[in-house]
Amino acid sequence: MAEPTERIDAVADYGTRPAGSAVETLFPVAVKRRRKRVAIQKDQGRGSLMVKQSSAKTYAPLPSVWFGDDSELIDKMLRFYPRKKPKDILDATVNCGRFWRGLDWKIVGMDINPAHNPTVVGDNTDMPFADRSFDVVVYDPPHIPNQGKDGCKDFSTRFGLTVKSPKEQGYSLSYMYPPFLAEAFRVLRPEGILLCKLADYVHGHRYQWAHLDFVRAAEIAGFCPCDSIVKVRQGPIIDPRWKVAHHARRQHCFWLIFRKSKKCE
Ligand SMILES: C[S@@+](CC[C@H](N)C(=O)[O-])C[C@H]1O[C@@H](n2cnc3c(N)ncnc32)[C@H](O)[C@@H]1O
Repeated sequence: MAEPTERIDAVADYGTRPAGSAVETLFPVAVKRRRKRVAIQKDQGRGSLMVKQSSAKTYAPLPSVWFGDDSELIDKMLRFYPRKKPKDILDATVNCGRFWRGLDWKIVGMDINPAHNPTVVGDNTDMPFADRSFDVVVYDPPHIPNQGKDGCKDFSTRFGLTVKSPKEQGYSLSYMYPPFLAEAFRVLRPEGILLCKLADYVHGHRYQWAHLDFVRAAEIAGFCPCDSIVKVRQGPIIDPRWKVAHHARRQHCFWLIFRKSKKCE
């Protein structure tokens, strides 16, 4: 079997040849695609609808590993996943709005903590919005439970770490997800997008699979899980009280993308 590069060469000029040769027998799909492209190119002079459809379908994916900051990625995701440009965007854990710095998107920012001056002070498990009010909901919940302050960063206010993970919840934060997801589903319009930043963590002497818990809960809530992007952290959180390492140091988190729909594409 030919290598992929050879294959591309072999079908490169095939769009203009008659049907039925050996190349077509070996690579029917590639030849079919090539023929379609040639037909589109021929049609370009007439400015037909076919050309417009072709340019709208240019293969331009997002990378699945992201080394930049959240704002830049959010901007890209808002242009990539929604079926049309979103008008109404809710950040359901806005804190002081770091995600939106330098971006043009108008958002409603909600937080349970009035100290952050959000647009709406409220609980994202009981939202004060009508059904189907938003095209996109963004969620960045507290990532590590029951932490205090260290010398460098105020974890409690910056990351919302005052949320508890009690014994009866398995020392995990995942109990927050189902009530939030039910509300996110309710306030999103059909085909709306949910963008969530989730980090796994170690707590209660256990690896806590936050992102998996979230995906399971989202499916139960009715969302279609569509995509994931690994975001590499520049400065992973390290608590000065930690002495012995039992787990790999988390240097990444996940952006998970869901659609209020039966299908992603
Ligand atoms: C990790 S921080 C969000 C950081 C924010 N994305 C940023 O980059 O600035 C989590 C935020 O969720 C808020 N929060 C926690 N529980 C909440 C709830 N039930 N409803 C709304 N906000 C909540 C916290 O007050 C905290 O500001």
